[in-house]
Amino acid sequence: MRYITLLGSTGSIGCNVLNIVKHDLSFFKIIALVARKNVNLMIKQCLFFKPKYVCMINKKSAKILKDYLDSINSKIIVLSGIDNACNVSILSNVNVVISAMSGISGLLPTFSALKAGKRILLASKEILVICGKIFMQELKNNKIQLLPLDSEHSSIFQNLPIKFQKNLGKYKLQDFNISKIIITGSGGPFRKINQGNLNHITPKQAYNHPNWKMGKKISIDSATMINKGFEYIEARYLFNANEKQIELLIHPQSIVHSIICYNNGHMSAQLSYPNMQIYICYAMYYPNFNNKEIKLLDLYELNKLSFENINFNKYPCLKLAIDAINASQSAVIILSSANEVAVYAFINKLIKFTDIAIINKLVLNKLYFLEPKNIQDIIYIYKLTKKFTKKMILTKFNK
Ligand SMILES: NC(=O)c1ccc[n+]([C@@H]2O[C@H](COP(=O)([O-])OP(=O)(O)OC[C@H]3O[C@@H](n4cnc5c(N)ncnc54)[C@H](OP(=O)(O)O)[C@@H]3O)[C@@H](O)[C@H]2O)c1
Repeated sequence: MRYITLLGSTGSIGCNVLNIVKHDLSFFKIIALVARKNVNLMIKQCLFFKPKYVCMINKKSAKILKDYLDSINSKIIVLSGIDNACNVSILSNVNVVISAMSGISGLLPTFSALKAGKRILLASKEILVICGKIFMQELKNNKIQLLPLDSEHSSIFQNLPIKFQKNLGKYKLQDFNISKIIITGSGGPFRKINQGNLNHITPKQAYNHPNWKMGKKISIDSATMINKGFEYIEARYLFNANEKQIELLIHPQSIVHSIICYNNGHMSAQLSYPNMQIYICYAMYYPNFNNKEIKLLDLYELNKLSFENINFNKYPCLKLAIDAINASQSAVIILSSANEVAVYAFINKLIKFTDIAIINKLVLNKLYFLEPKNIQDIIYIYKLTKKFTKKMILTKFNK
């Protein structure tokens, strides 16, 4: 039986998780739900899943939720703030923590869960991106089973030998005669648009991913393709891979999610329709598999799969991400933080789509930090960069 704390229950991933739980209440039990401020959806989730705890990061939202639950004599305990999100991630009767809060907002609860020895299902790639080394070390120290929810990483994971799956961070790819891993990306909604026309892109256009339905931040990150850069970094850490062992390729149909290449020339690809339920389901039932609800791929209907090399001039944010991990962990933190600020500035129409890459590059050039030794150092770099980027946007970019 899986007893779950779900971080980010009101988001796109969170709702997908709950959809799977709903269909198998004899195997899954929601112990705690965590979100930021979407009270209306949280009320519906509370009424259906009856968790023991619910935590809204936003205090006002927690108060509104509590007043409502009290008014119907509910026994659900309502909490607020990030400390309580950490507390519900280490409850002794929880054995799985699903990390699906936006950006790095789930960093502390996810780390608390890691230290408490919980199985972790990780959607929030930003967490691994900014503290990959420390995260993987903790994983090894505490012998934790981590299951990636990102489609590409889940597809790679599914194709790896069990020994590798059960000991992420311990083995190297060459230990299993793997020469490299290819990760695909659709190229986002603007693959066919000329560079010069990207200036006028609106947030609404950028949310419109051709193959995936996702939250706002990750949709913009997919449009700039920095998301693929973050996935590249995530894969480097998760699969203990060096610079030459991860390759990226454009694949507009999002059917082939990854390919593992062996020294003997053999290639093993993972194919499926672009549907997060497949990957979430795999992780939730691991090591068993239960995919009754999932539509199998019809290759005849698909007819054609195509692949293209990446034009890095068109996707400067992707190039910045790859360069950042090859430079240092602090460069990755700076980029991730600057990008978060820039993306929300674009969403709020303070800057142009193309300014995101310009801002990311400027901040990377301006800031320098020593390598972080612990989570506190990481948070320090992240916060300082955020402050710096906000100021830069207000002074230089605000029209
Ligand atoms: N969506 C996908 O297909 C997909 C695929 C792979 C990986 N991911 C990763 O999964 C994570 C979640 O993505 P998503 O698409 O589900 O995002 P989303 O739809 O925007 O949902 C984000 C969730 O996080 C909560 N949240 C937002 N800001 C927060 C904050 N400052 N503090 C605490 N909680 C906060 C939201 O709560 P409220 O709604 O209550 O504000 C919501 O529950 C991201 O890291 C993303 O990169 C997503």
